[in-house]
Order: sequence, then structure tokens, then C-alpha cells
Amino acid sequence: MSAAGHGRERSRDDGPFDFDGEYGQSYEALAHTVIPGYETAFEQALAILRGRLGTAARILVVGAGTGIEIVKFGARQPEWRFTGVDPSRQMLDLARQRIEEAGLADVVRLVHGFTGDVETGEFDAVTCFNVMHFLEDEPRGGSAKQALLSQMAAKLRAGGSLVLFDLHGDPTGGVDAEMFGAWADLWALRGMDPDGAGRFRQRISEGIHWAPEERIREMLAAAGYRRVHLFFRSLLYGAWIGEKGAAAT
Ligand SMILES: C[S@@+](CC[C@H](N)C(=O)[O-])C[C@H]1O[C@@H](n2cnc3c(N)ncnc32)[C@H](O)[C@@H]1O
Repeated sequence: MSAAGHGRERSRDDGPFDFDGEYGQSYEALAHTVIPGYETAFEQALAILRGRLGTAARILVVGAGTGIEIVKFGARQPEWRFTGVDPSRQMLDLARQRIEEAGLADVVRLVHGFTGDVETGEFDAVTCFNVMHFLEDEPRGGSAKQALLSQMAAKLRAGGSLVLFDLHGDPTGGVDAEMFGAWADLWALRGMDPDGAGRFRQRISEGIHWAPEERIREMLAAAGYRRVHLFFRSLLYGAWIGEKGAAAT
């Protein structure tokens, strides 16, 4: 992982969401419980990308995590070529094992680092599921969310697609506060015990940097994405697809 190239797209390695520690080990089981529509969002993204991409597509998976999206996409499109990037060695190890078990090792390259560390460019699609909400959006100091969106645009060919799945909104008030309450109730409905819910709520309050949808759209436009469409929403999660305009870097 080089020190240069990723600008301010970093998140804290030792923060409340320690992907190289205990949280990373239990992440995927937790994700299936707490993310409404986790599986469906991957399926819908795949269905859209299958319509846009040919058989020889190159996909960059940012925040590859346990490899779930690579394996789900690769199982249906084994001729696609994938690059997965992630700053957590533990998550990359989990992804590598799963990719090998799925028989996809020959079509996947894993990179330890950030998007800016991926040497090759000209991807036909970039996916970014459950990553950007960890990054700060401090317009005066340089927004890490904006840097991530720009780094991903830099890796796409002109006309290539970005799929972004992220938490959004402002849960401190209004209807988003109601949706946050419903989200926490969903964890209970899905069997999470009060202690686990308390720990997860604490992690969220320390480690999630919320942005309303208007701000996400503003940053997508600033990074050069056009034809942005919200194709999925579940409580406070949203999924957008956009394409890199000719002028974007
Ligand atoms: C919540 S997991 C998501 C994994 C997978 N995409 C999913 O949806 O299940 C977030 C992953 O992003 C990685 N990550 C954190 N900051 C990142 C960044 N700035 N760029 C790329 N990946 C990052 C973490 O190490 C972790 O593996």
C-alpha cells in the first residue's frame, strides 16, 4: 500500500469498525442481520450491470471485504475479470479464501490498499458497497467522501458505471430519525440481543459519517458522474448507479 495516490480517501484502521480485528471477523454475519436488502442490492446491481456490460467486462470492487460481491457476481458472470481492493489484510484473507472456494481465483486480483493504489485503470464498472459512510465529509479540510468518488472515477473508462451503496440521511431529526428508530427495531426483529444492539449503536455514533442524499448527488456530480439514478432504497440505505462523463478524470 503506497502512501501516495489515495489522497484523503482513508478511514481509520483502528476505529470503531476494526476490520482487521474482532469486528471484521464477525462482519458478514452481522451485515446479513442489520442491512435491510443486503442480498437484494447485490442482485439488483448485478442485473443492471449485466444489461450494461459485455462479457469481457473488467470490474473494480472497492472495499472488497469478505468478497461477497465478487463471488455473487462471478458465479453468474465467470467471464468477467475482477480487481478487489481493501486496506484490511484480514478482510482480504477472508475474501481470498472464499474466492478460491468458489473456483474464481483465476479471474480475481486482490490489492491491499486504497482505490488510488490500484495501478490499472479503464475499468468498465466500479462497485462500492458499504464503504463511503466510514469516510468524513469535511468540505473545509477536503472531503474524504469526495476523494473516494473522484478516485473511483479515475479508475473508470469514459461511460463506465459506478454502483454506490451507502447509508445516507440525517438521523438526528425528522423522518430520518424515525427511519433510524425503525432500523434499530429491525435489528431486534431479526434477533439481535440488546447488548449487541447497544454495541452496534455505539459504533455507528462513533464511526459513521452521515450525508443526505442531496450531498451525495452533489459529490457524485463534482466527481464527474452523470445520469445518476437511485435504484434501491431500504430505510437509510441507498444504492445509486451513475456513469463517468467524458470530462471526468
Ligand atoms: C462494511 S465492509 C463492506 C464489505 C463489502 N463491500 C460488503 O458490502 O459486504 C467495508 C470494507 O471497506 C474497507 N474499507 C474501509 N475504508 C476503505 C477505503 N477508504 N477504501 C476502500 N475500502 C475501505 C474495509 O476494510 C472493509 O473491508
